[in-house]
Amino acid sequence: MIISTEKSTQNLTYPYLPPSNSSTTSPNQSLLPLTAKTNDRDRLEVGGCDVTELLQQFGSPLYILDEVTLRTACGQYRDAFKHYYPGSSQVIYASKAWSCLAVCAVIAQEGLGFDVVSGGELYTTLEAGVSPEKIYFHGNNKSREELQFAVDKDCAIIVDNWLELQILAEITDPAKPTRILLRLTPGIECHTHEYIRTGHIDSKFGFDPNQLPEVFKFVAQQPGLNGIGLHAHIGSQIFERQPHQDLGGVLVDWMAKALDAGLPISELNIGGGLGIRYTEADDPPSIEEWVKTAAESVAKACDDRGLAYPKLISEPGRSLIGSACITAYTVGGRKTIPDIRTYITVDGGMSDNPRPITYQSVYRAVVGNRMSAKPSEIVTVAGKHCESGDIVLKDAHLPLTEPGDTLIILATGAYNYSMASNYNRIGRPAAVLVKDGDATIIINRETYADLLRQDRLPQRLKP
Ligand SMILES: Cc1ncc(COP(=O)(O)O)c(C=O)c1O
Repeated sequence: MIISTEKSTQNLTYPYLPPSNSSTTSPNQSLLPLTAKTNDRDRLEVGGCDVTELLQQFGSPLYILDEVTLRTACGQYRDAFKHYYPGSSQVIYASKAWSCLAVCAVIAQEGLGFDVVSGGELYTTLEAGVSPEKIYFHGNNKSREELQFAVDKDCAIIVDNWLELQILAEITDPAKPTRILLRLTPGIECHTHEYIRTGHIDSKFGFDPNQLPEVFKFVAQQPGLNGIGLHAHIGSQIFERQPHQDLGGVLVDWMAKALDAGLPISELNIGGGLGIRYTEADDPPSIEEWVKTAAESVAKACDDRGLAYPKLISEPGRSLIGSACITAYTVGGRKTIPDIRTYITVDGGMSDNPRPITYQSVYRAVVGNRMSAKPSEIVTVAGKHCESGDIVLKDAHLPLTEPGDTLIILATGAYNYSMASNYNRIGRPAAVLVKDGDATIIINRETYADLLRQDRLPQRLKP
């Protein structure tokens, strides 16, 4: 495998279409899904489907997930680890990025395992047919019930704190010890949003390294716990390679100490975190470059210390699914405030994509029913929610739009559906999986009846 140099071939100007031979492109560097192209009606097509027609068929707004892009990202991670790491490896999908049956099923078919962070994600993954042996259960405050669920199913558990260790010591069976990995804060800083930075010492996640010798001792004494590994995750949407290069040495040092303490460590999990391109200003390394850095760093740290290579696990979320999905909206009205700003509105917003209001995230958009129209005005795209901050795009350079046009936000696969809400009692959009001209519903649009499903009206309040 050769490190891809196709950054220069990326189309970073409107309408951001991927190169026609996109099979070698790293999906996390592409603004649109790899199958995106303009069809002879001047409309955006993804997975062989005309996006504007999809809106007519399935309603608006709509999440559109491109199977080829998702499978390509899985394959690039899998193949790069095989190529650059001399030991065994397993890529596991951080399913918090988007957990639903179809997404789990596609990723499982690609041979990946799963990171889940709640009983609900665990249940979804199991229902999708994933083998528990490939599921790793995360979370900084797992309940006793959630832990019991994971123990009963024989999943590996990534232990975050003392309370969890104590509960696990009580509920596990010495005749069938539970595989655990210990999460630690490695003390590595990276430049990303404060809310998605987790590897620095002042983090709510994982054991403080000062406590690890005591933790190792405790685990070694528990017959129901099989301390097979260590884990660290340093943050999300990271473009630098240095933090993951540093992480290898830190984890291998702790592995040596854990082995000395009698733990049978055979797995190191380096977390996820590789960033994706949301705008032309973003310049993430390719999947292959990231894997090379991370894998070679762990291998070298093992060589330097004369240790056997552990099974190397990584758990990307965003860089597997982020660029595989777009969200298509229908344009509504327009409001021009002279000398200040022009707003256009769309039929969704913070309830289907809370990232702009939560993280001030910036996206790019195209007008999907007139792909050759040139950007000609600066507009702010507002969502339809009763919240001034519900802005999908601020000051975007877009072609002139009219009510009814198809406005498509790019790279919405990660942390959009999974963070969606019913704010303002707006039903969450449907999602379709597209491939070779076929579009299949993978999540139904929520109806008004769905919104009332959990409501109960006490008898005495009935009209
Ligand atoms: C423990 C852990 N692993 C993996 C991930 C996935 O990160 P990303 O989507 O940036 O790859 C996260 C994201 O927050 C995480 O907290």
